[in-house]
Amino acid sequence: MKVAVLGAAGGIGQALALLLKTQLPAGSKLSLYDIAPVTPGVAVDLSHIPTDVEVKGFAGEDPTAALVDADVVLMSAGVARKPGMDRSDLFNINAGIVRNLMEKVAVTCPKALVGIITNPVNTTVAIAAEVLKNAGVYDKNRLFGITTLDVIRSETFIAELKGLNVADVKVNVIGGHSGVTILPLLSQVEGVTFTDEEVAAMTTRIQNAGTEVVEAKAGGGSATLSMGQAACRFGLSLVRGLQGEANVVECAYVDGGSEHAEFFAQPVLLGKNGVEKVLPYGEISAFEANARDAMLDTLKGDIKLGVEFVK
Ligand code: NAD
Ligand code: LMR
Repeated sequence: MKVAVLGAAGGIGQALALLLKTQLPAGSKLSLYDIAPVTPGVAVDLSHIPTDVEVKGFAGEDPTAALVDADVVLMSAGVARKPGMDRSDLFNINAGIVRNLMEKVAVTCPKALVGIITNPVNTTVAIAAEVLKNAGVYDKNRLFGITTLDVIRSETFIAELKGLNVADVKVNVIGGHSGVTILPLLSQVEGVTFTDEEVAAMTTRIQNAGTEVVEAKAGGGSATLSMGQAACRFGLSLVRGLQGEANVVECAYVDGGSEHAEFFAQPVLLGKNGVEKVLPYGEISAFEANARDAMLDTLKGDIKLGVEFVK
């Protein structure tokens, strides 16, 4: 397996690269790319860790060398929020970055599974899809918006609130990855009951958790370490699926034929070709159904912005 990280010298990229170096299966290759000149040095640094994962680093304007033969591409290249900004404020800079990198992916490793971290995810995934369509290589089963951070936050916050072992808490988060489009399905969490007030407060906290970090870092960026962990979990799940492991399920923002929007985050079964099957997200409460319906205009608007950007 070869995993390429684009944006590898950044806050997320370095954390993710460290976790992948220590957790990818033996014999894997890790390819790091960033425009920052330090990137080959990041690879040298990681290469001193004694695991059987070969690391190479590439810097400069062209990611091609990093992408050759990649099975999985994880993209965190771009700018992050500062206090007072919404994720959509990142569109002006990040849309072009994602488009340009995806043009290289389309030519160099069109069969790779691509996980997009760069914000605004609701829009950048649509941009990536349009680029792949224009190149004639789009396979909806191979493109993912990574929403795993919303899942791990939900697991953590619920375990804290209810005094549970976090390893036992499983939560589906559906919709997208910004504000009201993030919808944790608290009604489905096994063995846990919430009051109406707890549901409202927990949902709001999960939706605003990114802003919680942005404000706490006070101008120093957004979530990097927790996102590195989330992207590592998701990337390893992609690899496990590619290797034929059964029952690998993650929530992700995919073009999965949802009745709600062209892209929608929900549980997917991962396999040798990426999405093996889009799974139903199951029964939801009246509160959740209202929140789902109320998010759709925002989500569809975010997607349209991406489609129109490429056109
Ligand atoms: P960062 O500024 O620390 O790192 C970004 C890196 O991207 C930098 O090293 C920069 O040199 C690189 N870069 C910029 N343009 C590039 C290009 N054209 N090609 C290759 N590399 C390029 O930022 P970060 O904290 O790592 O965040 C990265 C992105 O991830 C942001 O857009 C942020 O909003 C997003 N993010 C998403 C989630 C999520 O849940 N999906 C969570 C946290 C952050
Ligand atoms: C997050 O959820 O932490 C990321 O999307 C970064 C951000 O800007 O909030």
